Amino acid sequence: MRFLIATVCICRVSVAHSASPLDRPDRTPVQTASGTEGIVVSNCDIASQIGADVLAEGGNAVDAAIATGFAMAVTWPEAGNIGGGGFMMVAPPERDVVCIEYRETAPASVKPNSLASWTNRRHERMVGVPGTVAGFWLAHQKYGKLPWKRLVEPAAQIAAEGIVVDDYLAWSLNIYLSQQDLQTDKRYAEFRRVYGPPEKQFWEAGDQLVQPDLGRTLSLIAEQGPTAFYEGAIADQIIDQMQRGDGWITKEDLKKYRAKHRPAIHAKLKGYDYYGAPLPSSGGTTVLMELRMLAALGLKKDEQYFWSADQVHLITEVMRRAFRERAAHLGDADFADINKSVWSVDYARQLATSINQKRATPSAEIVGDIVISTEPYESPQTTHFSVIDKDGMGVSNTYTLEASFGSCIVVKDAGFLLNNEMGDFNPVPGRTDTSGRIGTNPNLMAPGKRMLSSQSPVIIKQDGQVKLLVGSPGGRTIINTVMEILVQTLFFERSLAEAVDGPRFHHQWFPDVLRLERDDSLPDDLKSALQQRGHTVSQRNESRQGSAHSIEVDLRTGVATGVADWRRGGAAVRVEK
Ligand code: DON
Repeated sequence: MRFLIATVCICRVSVAHSASPLDRPDRTPVQTASGTEGIVVSNCDIASQIGADVLAEGGNAVDAAIATGFAMAVTWPEAGNIGGGGFMMVAPPERDVVCIEYRETAPASVKPNSLASWTNRRHERMVGVPGTVAGFWLAHQKYGKLPWKRLVEPAAQIAAEGIVVDDYLAWSLNIYLSQQDLQTDKRYAEFRRVYGPPEKQFWEAGDQLVQPDLGRTLSLIAEQGPTAFYEGAIADQIIDQMQRGDGWITKEDLKKYRAKHRPAIHAKLKGYDYYGAPLPSSGGTTVLMELRMLAALGLKKDEQYFWSADQVHLITEVMRRAFRERAAHLGDADFADINKSVWSVDYARQLATSINQKRATPSAEIVGDIVISTEPYESPQTTHFSVIDKDGMGVSNTYTLEASFGSCIVVKDAGFLLNNEMGDFNPVPGRTDTSGRIGTNPNLMAPGKRMLSSQSPVIIKQDGQVKLLVGSPGGRTIINTVMEILVQTLFFERSLAEAVDGPRFHHQWFPDVLRLERDDSLPDDLKSALQQRGHTVSQRNESRQGSAHSIEVDLRTGVATGVADWRRGGAAVRVEK
């Protein structure tokens, strides 16, 4: 029982302490771990260690990903979950990369405009039918080696025994528990009961968070598998919650939920094999559109700066165009007719030729046949983790509750949060506006349909072997975070650690604003140089984009290096020889 010892001993790698409980922890270097026996890198050291223990015990990368995923539901309730959904890219040795897709679905009673005038994002009505338990089960059925119970039990145990709260979880809980609706509204009484600090106003790093209800829920899943969640005692608790809170999910919706085993989006790119998440994530296709445009434009490394003004200009123009195509064409391919040529090489070349190398194209000039309303919206939380085992099997997994802590609805006496993923459907049919709201047809709500996602877990192979596992949270910024890391590593041959550490930027067509992180590695005049090219630039001090816990493999030596992003805490843990 190795995990017993491991979990009890773990204390988070310390990061600089902040002055106030509501101040975000400071910037730290990326943390790395290298080895040949397996690596797990996630948002939380406890979860990474639980995955690494599974690898050490002879489990493969999928086993470790499942164990890490369940553990994150305990250690990172912001986004780790059993009440949400996501995308698990799996690279089994010698076989095609596949996606275990466990995106949430719309309840059977919805219509395209059911949420058109709905504003409360923290409500049972915003909840999609959760996919995580079914997704992890499907991944286990297809690829797992160790018994299911062995993979879920460590999470059940740390929930019941308690975890040591780290700086980021303390900060994040404090921020949420300080918000007025979460402090007073009876809809969130269970949130306060489960996540409130013990007998004081604020959480501090080092405090214990004990989640006995979640421990029981996870034990049921360990014993009974997904039946407990979709048809059994946990399903009953979810339905009771829906009835109390006026939500839409029924017993039948839960029973009908299925995770899917889908082929990855595959493309050859600069001698590498790119594998991205398929629809209903727009991630795999939109990252590919961007990379193909950049390849067509011949983007080159700048020796002086991490990003030069010329590069940021060009990449922004690429982002703008890719996000316009995303809005126009992408949705759940099981429901909408999708024009696959939009991520073809030819189409990327055609889009790239419309880019002016010196001037920004106003987004309003490339709306095409999308009607834009002139009315003025977005929010974040998701988490990504990567796993590689000693045989080179890789897993790149992004999953989410949508916003931080999802809907903030904790299923009464079950101890877990429900997502608010219904907000990823286009809310108002026909209403696309300059604030970033989209109203095009492919992503309108329909019974059983999956909402379009931006989650972009990617696997890059070279000569048939896993070279990179990359992904991030961040809503629509995910696509650009992942693309920027791939550009750094594949186009510029920078190390993964440099690529994850370095500054990021984001443009998503609308709003027509380029958002830049601040960083010493950027030219001092970057903002003004971009403004001169016609961009509207926002560069806020505190702006941080994503949290990209990734792995690269040196294919000459077989040594894998896990890189934990600094932006939201994280830990890369290796299996010792
Ligand atoms: O699936 C999606 O695209 C969104 N629900 C992801 C939300 C997200 O990444 C927020 N994270 N920081």
